[in-house]
Amino acid sequence: ADGAHVPVLVIGTGYGGAVAALRLAQAGVDVHMVEMGMAWDTPGPDGKIFCNTREPDYRSYWLRTRTKAPLNYFLGFPIDRDIPRHTGVLDAEEFAGITVYQGRGVGGGSLVNGGMAVTPKRENFASVLPTVNAAEMYDVYYPRANAALGVGSVDPAWFESTPYYQYARVGRKHAQRSGFPFVFVPDVYDWDHMKQEEAGTVPKSALAAEILYGNNHGKKSLQKTYLAQARATGRVAISPLHRVTSVAPAGSGRYAVTIEQLGTSGAVTATKTVTAGRVFFAAGSVGTSKLLVKLKATGALPNLNGEVGKGWGDNGNVMCGRANHLWDPTGAQQSAIPCAGIDNWTAGGAFAEVAPLPTGIETFASFYLSITRNPHRAEFTWNAAAGRVDLSWQTAWKQPSIDMAKTIFDRINSKEGTIYRTDLFGVYKIWGDHLTYHPLGGAVLGRATDNYGRLSGHPGLYVIDGALIPGNTTVNPFVTITALAERNIERIIATDL
Ligand code: FDA
Repeated sequence: ADGAHVPVLVIGTGYGGAVAALRLAQAGVDVHMVEMGMAWDTPGPDGKIFCNTREPDYRSYWLRTRTKAPLNYFLGFPIDRDIPRHTGVLDAEEFAGITVYQGRGVGGGSLVNGGMAVTPKRENFASVLPTVNAAEMYDVYYPRANAALGVGSVDPAWFESTPYYQYARVGRKHAQRSGFPFVFVPDVYDWDHMKQEEAGTVPKSALAAEILYGNNHGKKSLQKTYLAQARATGRVAISPLHRVTSVAPAGSGRYAVTIEQLGTSGAVTATKTVTAGRVFFAAGSVGTSKLLVKLKATGALPNLNGEVGKGWGDNGNVMCGRANHLWDPTGAQQSAIPCAGIDNWTAGGAFAEVAPLPTGIETFASFYLSITRNPHRAEFTWNAAAGRVDLSWQTAWKQPSIDMAKTIFDRINSKEGTIYRTDLFGVYKIWGDHLTYHPLGGAVLGRATDNYGRLSGHPGLYVIDGALIPGNTTVNPFVTITALAERNIERIIATDL
């Protein structure tokens, strides 16, 4: 309520925020979480909470009147459609040189993502978080994060037999024939549930193209893991449809936090101010960076250092499709949850996941999302004239990612006698190089903060999300975001409270 005081306020309910809330509550601290997106706990008129990828409706996008599908063309035709403007679950946030996809709602990115839960190879960790002790991470915090997230792997026997992973088996065959290491990718999806979906004993979710716009059943989103545990402590309250716009010192070591309440059309229905003893920025790489850059530039948090807004990367995301021969169909039925990857990181700087294309018809396409060692880092800056935060990423900066992805797919194409699809991202356009799913950085650990996420210049303010990671995790990022949050919150509870 307006004017209230809370011991700890957490901005955002994604991975970083959920870890902070649970561990603080378990340590006996009352926590209030503020989330700009919806609660996603109430079914719509069709009885479902979320819509599926094939029929995006008002629930799909954050305040857009037209969908902005990551894969926006099919057979050269644009597939986007008009939708009512609503506080939907997926935000396609457009900056000058890149569109950044993010989850909106209680659970953050865990609502919309593929659930791929990958721990980086230990030999690559020094490039991911150079200031963090690797032994501690691999002995304590990665195992803790994997356990709490409920990470598991597909049953290999079922993988071989189900029509829903034919696309992944084709991906494996092509990778192996070209000599690339094929890996199974763990996931937080309930794999037993997926088997039952195939058997028809439970409602279909992964097997009904539920990805991107939410998953109604089998995926263990944060709502089912960290946030459920946090609520069970009785010490965590969550306010959905509330957006933090300012944090500023309020005297006696407290902070005044300004919060706008939103209606489902996006209109501001009320503005509230509360005070908090400590504030955790967990609004995601983009959300946290935008807040901090604005608050420093406008004088609300004048003591933040000059590293705020810097060191942002796209995890090297780039997408492409390959056109298979007619004797290599990838299947009309495809699980929306990927489980297969091609690891060419060491030799070529690319880790490619064999992604689904759950259109419901045979496409003869193999589709891939690659994570690459893109060296470019962008900066968020305050644009006073426009009253917004800009990001300096340039479209041409994806070229290194394309070159690295080609180390895999040029070789496969030449071995198989196949070509790239040119109809998935436009008319004669091979590369999906306009977007990222994996924003990282902007308040980098050990630079904008100390080595545990304490923001410099303002005691009691912390960053605990993907903004801490300097731009690349070599694999999908949320396990690393979760494990780093586990490490940092343990230290903060032990020494700051
Ligand atoms: P996260 O973005 O999860 O949470 C931030 C929360 O803060 C959001 O709920 C947001 O609404 C809220 N917020 C922002 N600003 C606010 C404000 N001012 N006030 C109040 N609330 C605010 N990763 C992976 O490891 N495996 C995968 O398979 C995938 N797949 C994937 C698919 C798609 C489509 C997307 C978009 C992303 C993925 N990811 C992924 C990425 C993964 O989801 C992402 O890295 C994490 O969710 C980031 O976690 P954070 O805790 O940093 O923020």
